[in-house]
Parts: sequence; structure tokens; C-alpha cells
Amino acid sequence: MTKLKVLSGMQPSGQLTLGNYIGALRNYVKLQHTHECYFMVVDMHAVTVPQEPAALKEQSESVAALYLAAGIDPKAATVFLQSTVPAHAELGWLMTTLTYMGELERMTQFKDKSAGKESVGAGLFTYPSLMAADIMLYNADLVPVGDDQKQHLELTRDLAQRFNGRYGDTFTIPKGYIPEVGARIMSLDDASKKMSKSNPNAGSYIALLDPPDVIRKKISRAVTDSGREVKYDPANKPEVSNLISIYSAVTDKSVADIEAMYDGQGYGPFKKELAEAVVALIEPLQQSYRDIRESGELHRILKEGQQKASELAERTLRDVKSKMGFVVL
Ligand code: TYM
Repeated sequence: MTKLKVLSGMQPSGQLTLGNYIGALRNYVKLQHTHECYFMVVDMHAVTVPQEPAALKEQSESVAALYLAAGIDPKAATVFLQSTVPAHAELGWLMTTLTYMGELERMTQFKDKSAGKESVGAGLFTYPSLMAADIMLYNADLVPVGDDQKQHLELTRDLAQRFNGRYGDTFTIPKGYIPEVGARIMSLDDASKKMSKSNPNAGSYIALLDPPDVIRKKISRAVTDSGREVKYDPANKPEVSNLISIYSAVTDKSVADIEAMYDGQGYGPFKKELAEAVVALIEPLQQSYRDIRESGELHRILKEGQQKASELAERTLRDVKSKMGFVVL
């Protein structure tokens, strides 16, 4: 039986956070042995907002190394950089021509990222068409992502259907693979905002490369609701509920078990043990991150990934171009 295909990616626009890990990265690791997986660093998406060249390069390598450090086995899954497979840019353009302005105007990520800015690049607006192309090039069945990517995935499904309707059956209609707990990890300083690597306040997120003591400090300073009950109640206790979600995702304990464990104890012991659970998860990951960066193997792995990804991506692109009426030589 052929394996179902999986594709996903993360932007190298800052350090990966615990939100990225819980919402998506750990599902990459989970799916890699049972599915045909493609995991990329979406550097072409990152440049939709200005990036300092040296930082972009460092962060692209860092994200790739973190994929491996988190447990992605490059023999089982294809790991690559989006910009090294030009078919993404090419199909991205073709998808832009298929996307309506109104569809892009409705995208909340665009609204959030452009809010209050005097001018934004056109690439930020057409970003979702490129993301659709990313997924369609591999005919992915499943796309492991956090909750904030649902709207982009819905557009991808619409574009795949639109193309199939116009030019004949070509694309798989992909489904999201979204965790039950932890699909939307919130900021430590404000539970109305999602935890994000682009937040200027570093205390609002836990970076996967934060030293253990910094992690402990950030969790001890995390905003908690008034009261002292460790109770999952997102409407009335959003701050504590967010910490419970993190605890549950990191330890695999159920929300009910966590509530029972800290019944009547207040926030102190809960936060302390949460910090230790996060450190216990992240410390081995950081060790293996250092080993990977020191090994000098990263470029070879990414080159192999580029070759494998290109084969499939170019085959899809040729088929698409021929169906659309381009002269294929
Ligand atoms: P990005 O780089 O913002 O985030 C990478 C992944 O992490 C998830 N995530 C979160 N999950 C839970 N809680 C959070 N606070 C949190 N923050 C981020 C995101 O949902 C995502 O899965 N557009 C994408 C990148 C992309 C992509 C693709 C994804 C480009 N092409 C093709 C899948 C398939 C993005 O900006 O992710």
C-alpha cells in the first residue's frame, strides 16, 4: 500500500518557539515513519517581511537543525529549504493567478501582519497562494499545522478544487492535521495573543533554544489570572488555561489529571513543575541541536532533501503546465 503524503513547513523568521513545537513539530516527528513526509524551511515565505540577510541564513540553518534535533530522521523524511526547489516559486505564481483578491483580503494572518504598517510588500498579500503551491506540489494528503493555519489550508483546498475543476483532476485535496491539545499556545504575557517568535517581548515566548534558567524564569513570570485555582477554563481563566495546555502537551497528562494534581495548592508548585517539565523536554533537544550543528552534516542533508523534493515537485509542475496549455518542451 502506498503511504499517505505529508508536507509542512516553518518560517525561519525568528527562533522556533514551544508553540511551534507543540502545535506542529512534534506531529512531524510522529508522522514520519508511517507517512511519506516532506518537511521544509519556508525561507521564501520569511522574506515577505524584511529580513536581515545574515540572520535569515543563520535562522534557516537553525530551523533545519531543530527539525533534526526534535527527532526528524532525514532517512525517513525529506528535509529541505523551500528556496532550493524553484518549483515552489513557479507554482506559487500560477496559484496567484488562480486566487481571487477577495480571498486574500479575508486572510487574518495578512490582516494581523499588515495592521498599523504604512506599506507592506505585495508578497505578504499573496503569501497564501505560495503556501497552497507548497502543499500541492507534493499532493500532500495531510498537513500538520497549528490552529492559526486553518484558514490558509482552507484556501489551499479551494484552489486545488478550482484547478481540478478547470483543468481536470490533478491535485489531492489536503486535510489539516491539528493537535487536540496545544493547537494554539498563547503568549506568556497576554493570553489573548498567540505565542509567536516575532513578538518583540522575548518574555512572551519560550524559544526552543532558550537556556534552562531562562525558561524557568519566563514561566515563573508568566502572567496568571487572579485567584489561585489551577483550573482549565479558557473563557474566565485564559492565562492559567494556557499554562495547563502547555503542561498537558509536554507531559501527555490529561487536563483533568493536572487539575487534580494541583487541587488546592495554588499556582506556585504548578508553575515550578511546569517549568521542570518543559526543561526536561527541551534539554535533550538542545544537546542534539548542538551535535548536529557541530557535525557539519547539515548542508549534505539539505542537499539530499533538495534532490528528493525536486524530483516530485518538478513532475507535478510539468503536469500542471501542460494541463494549463504551456508549451512543454
Ligand atoms: P509559522 O512559521 O508561523 O509556524 C510554524 C508552525 O507552527 C504552528 N504554530 C503554533 N502552533 C501552536 N501554537 C502557537 N502559538 C503556534 N505558533 C505557530 C503554525 O500553525 C505552523 O504549523 N504559513 C506557515 C508556514 C508554511 C506552511 C506551508 C505550513 C508555509 N508553507 C505549507 C504548512 C504547509 C507559517 O507561517 O507557519
